[in-house]
Amino acid sequence: MAQAAQDLWWQSAVIYEVYARSFQDTNRDGIGDIRGLIQRLDYLQWLGVNAVWLTPVYPSPMKDLGYDISDYTGIDAVFGKMDDFDELLREVHSRDMKLIVDFIPNHSSNLHPWFKESRSSRDNPKRDWYIWKEAGPNGAEPNNWLSVLGGPAWEWDEQTKQYYYHSFLKEQPELNLRNPEVMEAILEAMRFWLDKGVDGFRVDVMWYLIKDEKFRDNPINPDYKSGMPSSEQLIQAYSSNQPEVHDIVRQFRKLLDEYSEKVMIGELYLSVNKIMDYYGADNRGAHLPGNHQLLLLPWEVKKVAAAIDKYEAALPDGAWPNWVIGNHDQPRVISRIGRAQAKVAAMLLLTLRGTPIMYYGDEIGMENVEIPREEQKDPQGLLMENNKSRDPQRTPMQWDASRNAGFSTGKPWLRLPESYDQQNVEAQKKDPDSLLSFYRRLIALRQQEPTLMKGDYYPVVTDGKLLAYTRRGAGNKAFLIVLNLTDAAVDFKPKDPGIKGKVVLSTSMEREGQELKEGSSLEANEGILAQIIE
Ligand code: GLC
Repeated sequence: MAQAAQDLWWQSAVIYEVYARSFQDTNRDGIGDIRGLIQRLDYLQWLGVNAVWLTPVYPSPMKDLGYDISDYTGIDAVFGKMDDFDELLREVHSRDMKLIVDFIPNHSSNLHPWFKESRSSRDNPKRDWYIWKEAGPNGAEPNNWLSVLGGPAWEWDEQTKQYYYHSFLKEQPELNLRNPEVMEAILEAMRFWLDKGVDGFRVDVMWYLIKDEKFRDNPINPDYKSGMPSSEQLIQAYSSNQPEVHDIVRQFRKLLDEYSEKVMIGELYLSVNKIMDYYGADNRGAHLPGNHQLLLLPWEVKKVAAAIDKYEAALPDGAWPNWVIGNHDQPRVISRIGRAQAKVAAMLLLTLRGTPIMYYGDEIGMENVEIPREEQKDPQGLLMENNKSRDPQRTPMQWDASRNAGFSTGKPWLRLPESYDQQNVEAQKKDPDSLLSFYRRLIALRQQEPTLMKGDYYPVVTDGKLLAYTRRGAGNKAFLIVLNLTDAAVDFKPKDPGIKGKVVLSTSMEREGQELKEGSSLEANEGILAQIIE
């Protein structure tokens, strides 16, 4: 719970993920672009967020919609030109905001010149830039590892008669980061963006970056049940989260440390204890190893409270927390927990200790949009059983009630829901009680109160029906947050009966200014932020 005295921009920032294809289109091709994002920066500034995490805009054949890079130091024409990117960076900085770019060092596109060379012959100097192995007996795959998208993770190359490895699509061959030349090339690419002035990276699938040196078979998962993704038939004992990954992360960090105050966010889907390893020895690893618990947990008070407490307790000294409730890979928060809980979720995200990472559109309550199979774009949905499509959470931003919600005057790459005529930025800006207005007030309050940005977190013990905690120890105010995750009224019964506060912000505006104390009844789906009266 103790925190070191630190004062770095990414610790007090609210980070906002922009899914590049879906934010704003300006050239009428129905796909969002960099100029579109520039146009919408005023909105982000109005909302109060401090940093944008932009999903990949590198040249790409788009097999995985940009997560398959064919040039690490360029911009895909779909998104614009390098000049547009430079302008974006200037515009972001002129608003006193930061720009974090997505970076994908685990794999490139199969059309990257490196891979083209690598596959051209066994003795090509870049052969060892990717992971090539001889076939097993009778032409079998080199080991039993499975692709996340189903089927073996090995693809046979007829020309050179070897297999290459890919955790994701076969069009995303895995780079061999054990090879120092590859590492240098990746660092070179990162340096390119750092020299331009980007403020950090979100490193894609950080825990995959290195594999077992001996490529041992993964063990069978005894807990596998039908309906689970087929890749989960095995435990990834050897194909991910290997001890040497921390050397790689450390090298990235060393590079970042040559510049001032850059941030590295790591994408990680791992248990809490394993996440902690990514802070690195002496906190010289990732600044923000992704904490994805709130994306995956059932929305139940005991489970959420236990997860927060466990995470807080596990943090190494001096490590800074982070929280996420939505991203481009997971179903929309509202579709997981219900619209009635949207403000409660916002309050949780923005009052926990640590850096909150928001997902575009969550602030207006965008929900999963059902996309008919013939319109789907996500390879994950098209290739995996049980339709795991991520298209529903990647639909165009809903700006206003005009055609295509103001996103594009062309045909949007994914359809919009009919409800966009009400669920949009313009309509919600006018309504002081809207979800958007609530987010804006919460963000403003957070930024005004050092305690909410930097204060310590303490759980408040209740009878287990409400999620309650305090924030104290930075600034001269202390806050009590009480959240009702259910759709029934619940009385506040703290173990410490003396604790009370004056309501500063509530999901029910009429509550504001009142006292919150033992016995106060929270309405269904109510969340309260109160300043503690000592
Ligand atoms: C990460 C990205 C996801 C992508 C995958 C493969 O999980 O967030 O969108 O498909 O990596 O690059």
